[in-house]
Amino acid sequence: MQYDNENDAILKARLPRHIAIIMDGNGRWARRHRLHRIEGHRAGAAAAKEIVRVCGKLGIQVLTLYAFSIENWGRPKAEVNALMMLLEEYIQKEAQELVAHNVQFRAIGRLQGLPASVQERLYETIGLTQGNNGLILNLALNYGGRSEIVDAVQAMIPEIQRGSLKVEELDEETFDRFLYTAGLPDPDLLIRTSGEMRLSNFLLWQSAYAELWITPILWPDFTPEHLMEAIAAYQKRERRFGRTSGE
Ligand code: FPP
Repeated sequence: MQYDNENDAILKARLPRHIAIIMDGNGRWARRHRLHRIEGHRAGAAAAKEIVRVCGKLGIQVLTLYAFSIENWGRPKAEVNALMMLLEEYIQKEAQELVAHNVQFRAIGRLQGLPASVQERLYETIGLTQGNNGLILNLALNYGGRSEIVDAVQAMIPEIQRGSLKVEELDEETFDRFLYTAGLPDPDLLIRTSGEMRLSNFLLWQSAYAELWITPILWPDFTPEHLMEAIAAYQKRERRFGRTSGE
């Protein structure tokens, strides 16, 4: 693999700390290949595996993958069940590789709403990898950006009632502590595959200043080369955070 060494196209010094990806287009990929939708998800899981590997190798701090949204429960039951089984299988199969590659596995979302067997696998792998200090792989599962904000407010209110947090002291930094992503840097680069120009309720608070990279490539076709292209484009951008250039 050409990414084993320094890559000319990207500057190691200006890597995004946190990359977040909306992995879209599995269904369309399956249709194009005259396969069942679940085969598209299976191919999507294989693409995810490669991207995790390359992010680890590049020294990216955090990779957040949108694997199952709260809205996804609205899909046909058979597809939801198949996705849950695939997730369980993926987490179980990858656990040892994650340990071996120093990846710290985490999950964000309303995890208590996932099937018990998926939760078991999740917590098992989270436990197995918690001592690792390489890439943080954050899987967004039963995740919604708005519900994350509601959950943060719900977690915050008891602290206000107890008096350990004063309303006047509440600021953005304090609020951040109650989000699922507490302690993690905000995404610098947000990638969406399959061409849709939407955030789809993903990391709404955290993506305030994320650089967006939207590609028509369907997720199962998204390769490390496409990732490098996105990172190279990110590195050419001038991030102003609302200020004027040169400030
Ligand atoms: C969107 O494609 C993808 C999903 C809803 C699920 C993402 C899941 C995976 C990539 C597999 C599991 C991944 C991991 C990391 C375990 P879509 O079905 O909305 O595609 P479409 O818009 O073309 O129908």
